[in-house]
Amino acid sequence: MKGRKILVTGGLGFIGSHTAVELIAQGFEVVLADNLSNTTEAPLEGIEAITGQRPVFEKVDLSIGAEVQGLFDRHPNFDGVIHFAAHKAVGESVREPIKYYLNNLGSLGLLLEQCRTRSIVHFIFSSSCTVYGEATRLPIDESAPVQPAMSPYGNTKQVGEEMLRDAVRAYSGLQVIALRYFNPIGAHPSAHIGELPLGSPLNLVPYVTQTAAGVREQLQVFGNDYDTPDGTNVRDYIHVVDIAKAHVVALNRLMQHQNTDAYEVFNLGTGRGSSVLEVIRSFEKVSGKALNYRIVERRPGDVTAAYADTRKANEVLGWKAELSLDQAMEDAWRWEKKVRNLND
Ligand code: UFG
Repeated sequence: MKGRKILVTGGLGFIGSHTAVELIAQGFEVVLADNLSNTTEAPLEGIEAITGQRPVFEKVDLSIGAEVQGLFDRHPNFDGVIHFAAHKAVGESVREPIKYYLNNLGSLGLLLEQCRTRSIVHFIFSSSCTVYGEATRLPIDESAPVQPAMSPYGNTKQVGEEMLRDAVRAYSGLQVIALRYFNPIGAHPSAHIGELPLGSPLNLVPYVTQTAAGVREQLQVFGNDYDTPDGTNVRDYIHVVDIAKAHVVALNRLMQHQNTDAYEVFNLGTGRGSSVLEVIRSFEKVSGKALNYRIVERRPGDVTAAYADTRKANEVLGWKAELSLDQAMEDAWRWEKKVRNLND
């Protein structure tokens, strides 16, 4: 059906796979493109188990022009693009900045070129709360200044937003929504898809669940001397299913011409800040397991606290996070147990 075929880049990744499920549930036809650099083809089975449909998968390196060209030649009729594909490890980006710029910004540029030449006008971009840096005011709303990036990864998100803003100005018809995620966590409640970081997890929640599953020995909590209620960092942890649903809402907003600006930005968060210790307590409560953790030195580059002002997303986009931290932890734990073949 015209107006319904969506390219999801990074479609086998954590947020991409959950978004594919929500798109299919809403009747969209999806093509998932992924280079499998940080995932496997297993989410295809998971998506099929949940939706009853196996999406089309294209193994493509989106930073290579000929591959992008081939993808759009095989699918000349996309009606929109949701662009998740990107490298996302902050520390690695410091060590290998050019890899990040070539991949994250190169792929964005090549996709935008295809959109321009083929008149594909609906584009959703994965941005990050990292663009706000250490915000001076909490909660953080979309008018908070974008701070100098603290890592090449963060810079690719900032420059990515600028590329899109410039593209919207230059290419008539192009309509973009950039979604600035706070901390996506959890898994699909069915446990058919979830987060499966390759190697040792860098993010808190997969580290928590892997520690409880016995894959990691002990969680290190990076500092308890911050200026927060319990001394540990505060973040806005949001269930990945809520994040996924926001993408469908944003896409519909563009397709139904409800956007008021050709380039719009929305925070995706719950509006609630939780400390690292609160996340641990939530996990312990829903799992019934005591977590082995200890407090260590601060991690360089961590901001003290970040949580979203969600009013714009709630009122303008018409979307609101519905799932709680406990639900996210429960789903993350169910997924971890499934991956590790644990029963209890
Ligand atoms: N943390 C621990 N131990 C761990 C892992 C994390 O205590 O083993 C703490 C961190 O210090 C932080 C919190 O858990 O206080 C969350 O850390 P994550 O790594 O899960 O997430 P971040 O808040 O660091 O990530 C966010 C965005 C990224 C962005 C990054 C920039 O989600 O997209 O900020 O610093 F790149």
